[in-house]
Amino acid sequence: MSDDTPKNHPSGAPWRNFYGRFKGKGLRASQEAWLEEDLAKLAPGAVSWEENPERTQLDLEALFPGKDIWLEIGFGGGEHMVHQATQNPDVGFIGCEPYINGVAMLLGKIREAGSDNIRIHAGDARDMFDVLPDASLSRAFLLYPDPWPKKRHHRRRFVTEEHLAPLSRKLKQGAIFRVATDIKDYVRQTLEEVPMQGFEWLAETPNDWRTAWPDWTPTRYEQKALREGRTPHYLTFRKT
Ligand SMILES: C[S@@+](CC[C@H](N)C(=O)[O-])C[C@H]1O[C@@H](n2cnc3c(N)ncnc32)[C@H](O)[C@@H]1O
Repeated sequence: MSDDTPKNHPSGAPWRNFYGRFKGKGLRASQEAWLEEDLAKLAPGAVSWEENPERTQLDLEALFPGKDIWLEIGFGGGEHMVHQATQNPDVGFIGCEPYINGVAMLLGKIREAGSDNIRIHAGDARDMFDVLPDASLSRAFLLYPDPWPKKRHHRRRFVTEEHLAPLSRKLKQGAIFRVATDIKDYVRQTLEEVPMQGFEWLAETPNDWRTAWPDWTPTRYEQKALREGRTPHYLTFRKT
């Protein structure tokens, strides 16, 4: 950021660089309709700076009375979140994804599965961290985060202090944080940076990171990685 770059948007939001895509190919008419009809109903509350400039905390007890809350960051097409939500009806899920085509795919899957325990923030996970109460999450998933392979782009990766420090504050002590990636250097950075934010890596043998979790379903990016001959790594951390 140069000295002239504003530190805040006119809304008061801090200037947060986002390097991904918000929109890809055109949406199908059905997807446009799902966004129009379902997205507002599935909002977890006021998350964006425009709606909530005071950054009032979400009332998770009103949202999901008596339930544990699990968060998925960058859910892509949403296949993993719907799979988990179906297997865990007693858990409340919150998913964050700025890529609107992915959000539209998730909405179609929610309709098909009839899930009633998913809420969606169609935006950046960092805005969600602002409004989630501390120590409110029992589990978080970061599945195939954008790899940013060039060395000069490694600071854009999700596994940096900017993202991990607030995520760590939002997790309860003993909460589980799962990271999946097919990029070896992403494994290196994850194992370096995540423990610095108050997590322990739970692997005891190589099988622990080579074998998918028992309740896993392959995501779109994992399927692509496997087709292209790359090896998935499944890293499990516990908040200390
Ligand atoms: C490589 S894709 C993987 C998608 C999906 N998890 C899968 O495995 O198929 C990474 C996703 O993370 C999302 N993402 C990137 N930065 C994010 C952020 N700050 N908050 C939430 N999602 C983010 C991107 O929009 C993208 O859809």
